[in-house]
Amino acid sequence: MHTNTGFPADFLWGGAAAANQFEGAYNVDGKGLSVQDVTPKGGFGHITDGPTPDNLKLEGIDFYHRYKDDVKLFAEMGFKVFRTSIAWSRIFPNGDETEPNEAGLQFYDDLFDELLAHNIEPLITLSHYETPLHLSKTYDGWVNRKMIGFYENYVRTVFNRYKGKVKYWLTFNEINSILHAPFMSGGISTSPDKLSQKDLYQAVHHELVASALATKIGHEIMPEAQIGCMVLAMPTYPLTSHPDDIIAVMESERKNYFFSDVHVRGTYPGYMKRYFKENNIELDVTEEDLEILKNTVDFISFSYYMSTTETADESKREAGAGNILGGVQNPYLEASEWGWQIDPQGLRVVLNDFWDRYQTPLFIVENGLGAIDQLEQDENGNYTVNDDYRINYLSAHLSQVKEAIKDGVELMGYTSWGCIDLVSASTAEMKKRYGFIYVDRNNDGTGSLNRYKKKSFDWYKNVIATNGEDL
Ligand code: BG6
Repeated sequence: MHTNTGFPADFLWGGAAAANQFEGAYNVDGKGLSVQDVTPKGGFGHITDGPTPDNLKLEGIDFYHRYKDDVKLFAEMGFKVFRTSIAWSRIFPNGDETEPNEAGLQFYDDLFDELLAHNIEPLITLSHYETPLHLSKTYDGWVNRKMIGFYENYVRTVFNRYKGKVKYWLTFNEINSILHAPFMSGGISTSPDKLSQKDLYQAVHHELVASALATKIGHEIMPEAQIGCMVLAMPTYPLTSHPDDIIAVMESERKNYFFSDVHVRGTYPGYMKRYFKENNIELDVTEEDLEILKNTVDFISFSYYMSTTETADESKREAGAGNILGGVQNPYLEASEWGWQIDPQGLRVVLNDFWDRYQTPLFIVENGLGAIDQLEQDENGNYTVNDDYRINYLSAHLSQVKEAIKDGVELMGYTSWGCIDLVSASTAEMKKRYGFIYVDRNNDGTGSLNRYKKKSFDWYKNVIATNGEDL
């Protein structure tokens, strides 16, 4: 039943984070290294010899030791849900062991208990750009079929351990980003210039099978669980109305839809079979794989930061700054300080497109503005950040969410990205902040790690309290 605000009464409001970007404690209690721990310049970088002292991701914001205080702040904002990931390498430090690391399991038990004690549902990503480094170095990550078995062992372990505590699960963060960031997303250590299309799509296939297998196993172990896929959503607009541009958009969008099509329909779409054939990509796909793929997801979750624009005209395809996926600049949109084009209406478009295509419930699990914040003292001497720009961004996007719900879209919830400041995935910067909570930590690693409420903290608290009536 919808309330008069448009948002359903049981709408899951909250925030999102990922283990590798905020936990810190990268080598504590038996944790192994993950691929993110060795990319000091962020996810667009490639493998290094090991962690370096200036890699901010290693310390994150020390959520590992401060989670109780941070969860208290989430509860104060009224969160109904909190999305984070389990760091695979806390549970299986190398990834290919048979026995899990008890200390790693215990940490998440404690965290989930803390969340539940504050009536906050955990929404857990099983793999958020966190392939154990050993699996990357030894097996070339998801190119290798053995990864399915390692992942199966990991998910079975955490499903058995956390059943009854965690109801909402996501299999792979932004699974479609593997096409653009094979090391960060797929743990593939072969450098992108040497990686063949066949190996890349074989890795995609292995992840899709592993995702469907996790859905199957999850439902067996936890019949009440809701298991979703997670894709990077980016609606694509044509630069002109020329039919060639319309076809360019269709083909570009299919590189993303392919992933949700398989997750929701349980089979490869015809356009990908054609693509593989015409590009001589012969994949190793077994009969058993095809059976496993039939285990489809309960919901589609996605991140949304921007739309993009495409054209078939090569002369106009000058690189447009963007997230992991490229495209050309849209002349009608403004961009963030990092060049991400801001488009609230694109969120309404993407919600409607997914809903019309699948009629499967949706969940927005990332959205937000990365910006440089200034810590200031208010009239009472308290430190805060006057982040009206963030409030404006989120308000405009949530207004479009409301429109989409009125359009008939079934939406389970909304978790804004980086609800507490954390380290950027793409650039490894601390100064690219998304949070309602400011964390005193600088790009050079200095700072007390103290937490301060920004102006947006009270704003979001009121959004939740009014179930989206006041935006
Ligand atoms: C998404 C990722 O791509 O975007 C997150 O799932 C990431 O891990 C977020 O942090 C924002 O990107 P960035 O590069 O600003 O941290």
